[in-house]
Amino acid sequence: MAKQLIAGNWKMNGTLQESLSRVTDLIEQTKTLNHANILICPPFCLINPIAQLVKNTNILLGAQDCHTQEKGAFTGNISAVMLKDAGCQYVLVGHSERRTYQNESNAEIQQKVQAAINAGLIAVLCIGETKEEKEAGNTIKVLQNQLKNGLPSNATAQNLIIAYEPVWAIGTGLVPTNAEIEENHTQIKQIIAQNLGQSVANSMQVLYGGSLNAKNCNEILPLNNVNGGLIGGASLINADFVTIINNATKV
Ligand code: PGA
Repeated sequence: MAKQLIAGNWKMNGTLQESLSRVTDLIEQTKTLNHANILICPPFCLINPIAQLVKNTNILLGAQDCHTQEKGAFTGNISAVMLKDAGCQYVLVGHSERRTYQNESNAEIQQKVQAAINAGLIAVLCIGETKEEKEAGNTIKVLQNQLKNGLPSNATAQNLIIAYEPVWAIGTGLVPTNAEIEENHTQIKQIIAQNLGQSVANSMQVLYGGSLNAKNCNEILPLNNVNGGLIGGASLINADFVTIINNATKV
C-alpha cells in the first residue's frame, strides 16, 4: 500500500497573496517529511502561481473540478488537459457540493473521471451519503450506486483515488464512529473489487473526508482501510493541516 495521502480542499477560499504566503510556510514546515503524500487543491485561478511555488517540493497540486470535454464552447469551464498544462497532478471529481449546487449526476461525474484520466491526471472521486440516506439505512446502496455509475472501466489504482465523504459530516463538526468509517471503507473496497477486480481494489486508496481535523486525525487516520484524508476547513490553517499530516500513519 502506498503512503497515506493527506489532501487539502480549499474550496472557494484564498486571495493570491494570502495563499502564496500560506503555501510558502507549508513548504517550509513539511520539507523534511516523507512519510505521507501531501496534496493541496486551490481554486483554479491560483493553480498556476502555486504550481511555480511547489515545483521540486513535497507538495502535490490538484484542482477541485474539471469539465468532461478537452476544449470547446463551454463558457466558464476548465478542462483536465488545461489543469495538467497548468501544473496539476490531481483533480477532485464529484464533490458533494458540486453534486448539490451544480446538479452533477453520476453519469457526468464518470465522464469527468474519464477526462481526468485521459489527460494524465489522478482523479479523486468523491462519494458519500446524505443524512436522510444514512437514517433510512441506505448508505451502502448509495455508495454502490455512486461507484457503479461513477467508475470508468479503465480506472486503476494508479489513476484513481476514492474519497469517502459523508455529506452530513462535511463542514459540520460531525463524524461517523470509527466503526462506521471502517465498515464503510471496507464496503467501498468490496464494491471496487466487484467493478474493477480484486487486485485494483487491494491497492486503490480510499480517503476519509468530512470534519477531519487536528483533534480527531489521530483516531481516524490509523483505521483499517483508511488510506489518507480529504480535508476542507482544517486545510486552510497550516498548524492544523500539518498536525493532520504528522498523524498520517507511517509506511
Ligand atoms: P471539511 O470538508 O473538512 O471542512 O468538513 C471536507 C470536504 O468537503 O472535502
